[in-house]
Amino acid sequence: MTKHRLFGRLYPAMSRALDQAGMAERRTALLTGLTGEVVEIGAGHGVNFAHYPPTVTRVLAVEPQPHLRVLAAAQAAGAPVPVEVADGDAEHLTIPDRSVDAVVVSLVLCSVRGQDEVLSDARRVLTPGGQLRFLEHVRAGTAGLARVQRALDTTIWPHLAGGCRLGRDTLAAIHRAGFTSSTSTSS
Ligand SMILES: C[S@@+](CC[C@H](N)C(=O)[O-])C[C@H]1O[C@@H](n2cnc3c(N)ncnc32)[C@H](O)[C@@H]1O
Repeated sequence: MTKHRLFGRLYPAMSRALDQAGMAERRTALLTGLTGEVVEIGAGHGVNFAHYPPTVTRVLAVEPQPHLRVLAAAQAAGAPVPVEVADGDAEHLTIPDRSVDAVVVSLVLCSVRGQDEVLSDARRVLTPGGQLRFLEHVRAGTAGLARVQRALDTTIWPHLAGGCRLGRDTLAAIHRAGFTSSTSTSS
């Protein structure tokens, strides 16, 4: 995960603009009602941290990009709940089985290498009854838009956007991994 460093430098400013355009409310909705121990995968610069409710006892925030990790650590210091920021990769989580109450991913499943592997690992670390909370963009519902997404995905988009694929059928992957009910905020 040494690629996409330029995207990592630019992302915090992009994310601020997104938050001002309504993403901040979605982040709050994503995390509302969570309790106990949480793992956030691909935490970026820690933009979700301020939105965790006080019922969360600890967040382990995994982020592979060094620059984003430094920014996330600064956010963690001012977060309303204890947050530990760690280097790590969604494909190789070093977290014991059945050890966390929730796994959080936001704008990450579009860019991991193997969605199925990542989601199956998320299930592995969740306690029985644990929750996957996700905020992800998904494949367009209309054939025309889905074609545009495919065209972008096979040309410039992943290079511009940190490996993101617009047209992934992320909802199908989540269901394939066996998640039957989760709080979803997708667009
Ligand atoms: C678009 S940013 C989203 C950051 C943050 N989660 C948010 O909601 O704004 C995508 C993030 O996923 C991380 N990421 C990409 N591939 C990853 C992987 N295989 N494992 C863990 N994180 C990954 C990137 O480093 C980046 O921080």
